[in-house]
Amino acid sequence: MTISSDQRASGRCSVVVLISGSGSNLQSLIDSADEGGYSICAVVSNKADAFGLTRAQKAGIPTALLSHLAFATREDFDLALMDIIDQYEPDLVVLAGFMRILSAAFVTHYAGRLLNIHPSLLPEFAGVNTHQRALDAKVARHGASVHFVTEELDGGPVIARHSIPVAETDTPESLAARVLQQEHALYPKVVTWFAAGELRMTDNGAHHMRIKLPDTQDFD
Ligand code: GRF
Repeated sequence: MTISSDQRASGRCSVVVLISGSGSNLQSLIDSADEGGYSICAVVSNKADAFGLTRAQKAGIPTALLSHLAFATREDFDLALMDIIDQYEPDLVVLAGFMRILSAAFVTHYAGRLLNIHPSLLPEFAGVNTHQRALDAKVARHGASVHFVTEELDGGPVIARHSIPVAETDTPESLAARVLQQEHALYPKVVTWFAAGELRMTDNGAHHMRIKLPDTQDFD
């Protein structure tokens, strides 16, 4: 019996997490899985040295490594990645610091069951270097967002955001560290909603059965 069919028997939402690096968001998802009503059935990395792989192994979660360097095109890599993911028949695919732009075929295949976390208050500061750009723009508040993934980079329907105040003394590093703390609460919250069947992507954007989206929580 495969891991995923074990999970289906238990009725829990099964999640594949994609990573490229430290995996601190992965860790928060691992730590919240029981309470959140979901199970992480696999972690896939495109980087051999991603510390997230170690975190997954310590938690007894199957891991896979698929280097994008072995593929001539983005489309070929994504097809191979889809093959790995689909072996687990997940209900949800979660991008947690997965540093790849995804092809249209990939995004379409997982439409409505593909989430990403981004270190800014979307739609502000889509793309890279978000913390430096927030400081340059002298915004009063900064934060993180979880959204459904569509073909538009960081542009899919926003589900939830956590914001914090920006201090005059902040550096990109200090701001990133405080935003990351918020990410660790935000991502499990959203995955828990999805696992409970309360969250879906519609033609009009992200929809929650009880909560008006995007759900924006401000912290001091
Ligand atoms: C996080 O800031 C996330 O928002 C961004 O990449 C970073 C990943 O950090 N997409 P970690 O690997 O989860 O520690």
